Amino acid sequence: MKKSVEDYIRSIPDFPEPGIIFRDITSVLQDADGLQMAIDAMQAFINPEEVDVIAGTESRGFLFGAPIAYNLHKPFVLIRKKGKLPCATISKKYDLEYGTAEIEIHKDAIKPGQRVVIIDDLLATGGTLAACNALIEELGGVVAKNVFLIELAGLNGRKKLEGYDVKSVVCYEGK
Ligand code: PRP
Ligand code: MG
Repeated sequence: MKKSVEDYIRSIPDFPEPGIIFRDITSVLQDADGLQMAIDAMQAFINPEEVDVIAGTESRGFLFGAPIAYNLHKPFVLIRKKGKLPCATISKKYDLEYGTAEIEIHKDAIKPGQRVVIIDDLLATGGTLAACNALIEELGGVVAKNVFLIELAGLNGRKKLEGYDVKSVVCYEGK
């Protein structure tokens, strides 16, 4: 067994383009100890008594969010890419490095006043989670926390999420 979850994250230089170091979570998930360490470390940021709902964002946020919800015996809410959810939804557009994306949530997924922790694998620019936070609040929910496995501090995602309680397990200085 390796010492910490960081040891399981694989860094791939020049992917998807030259100069970018890709932080790969498949190497975490495909090791039984790595997977447990990642879930346990993310979950440790959450006080179950202060949370009603765990939400995860498609797709990598599902991998970490659902096990945490299961462990804490909380409901799990899916924030999906546009066009996948079958019932009434609200949606939000957000900026990517090139172009825009859109995510949505079922209107009945959050009841007013519910305290929600949103889980994702990676905090990069913060655009995805800023949109998720806005969706939860539009439904009357209260964002209790944003929990990530990895943070790329050089992309200033924390700034975009200012005012929220942001936690990450492993923080890299660069982009
Ligand atoms: C990646 C990652 C985060 C997001 C972080 O998801 O899983 O959700 O980007 O970037 P940001 O902080 O700049 O918004 P991606 O949209 O690539 O989709 P995936 O989870 O389906 O792989
Ligand atoms: Mg994602």
